Amino acid sequence: MNTSRPVKYSQTTITELMIPSYANFGGKIHGGILLSLMDKVAYACASKHAGGYCVTVSVETVDFREPIEVGELVSLKASVNYVGRTSLIVGIRVESENVVTGHVRHTNTSYFTMVAKDASNQPKEVPPLRLETKEEVRRFLECIKRKELKNHYKEELSLQKLNLEIEGNIDLLGGERCEIDF
Ligand SMILES: CC(C)(COP(=O)(O)OP(=O)(O)OC[C@H]1O[C@@H](n2cnc3c(N)ncnc32)[C@H](O)[C@@H]1OP(=O)(O)O)[C@@H](O)C(=O)NCCC(=O)NCCS
Repeated sequence: MNTSRPVKYSQTTITELMIPSYANFGGKIHGGILLSLMDKVAYACASKHAGGYCVTVSVETVDFREPIEVGELVSLKASVNYVGRTSLIVGIRVESENVVTGHVRHTNTSYFTMVAKDASNQPKEVPPLRLETKEEVRRFLECIKRKELKNHYKEELSLQKLNLEIEGNIDLLGGERCEIDF
């Protein structure tokens, strides 16, 4: 598994029309529909790079800042941004197009961590990533920073949770919209 594969080898785009059955009670597209499409494109991109089956391990930064309307054409553009030994981080850019006006909106960007698996369901080494542009190097470096920050956040949260006894933290609830009832 030492032969690298370029980013463009596995770049994948899925385009799907937002049909009425995808809508929630407010008439906008369900967040779950988008998550499912993001998972699908992440899988297609990661498995192409890995040359085999992959699973989703972690999903980062899914902010639905703008609603998507029924009738819009949604494109999900996926690229492998980073590879570890058995894991890959796939960046996904979601754009929604109003087919009548041609106006395209960037609705969100997310990062899916996938792990390649072998036939025995064990993590399997993936090919190195060949970075052919400065932008690809920048994205790879950004993922290293993301991983560092994520580990730091996890450690810090574990520490904070150890110290979350009610008596010592009751002041934090001042001004919050909750009522203690026991
Ligand atoms: C993903 C999985 C194989 C990891 O198993 P594990 O015993 O932790 O294996 P490892 O410690 O060897 O980790 C494998 C890789 O996953 C990465 N990883 C594990 N947990 C992670 C997490 N929470 N976030 C990001 N990466 C993670 C490790 O860093 C490692 O990457 P590397 O080889 O590039 O360094 C295992 O947890 C699994 O199969 N989970 C279920 C996945 C699934 O079914 N997804 C579908 C959703 S229902």
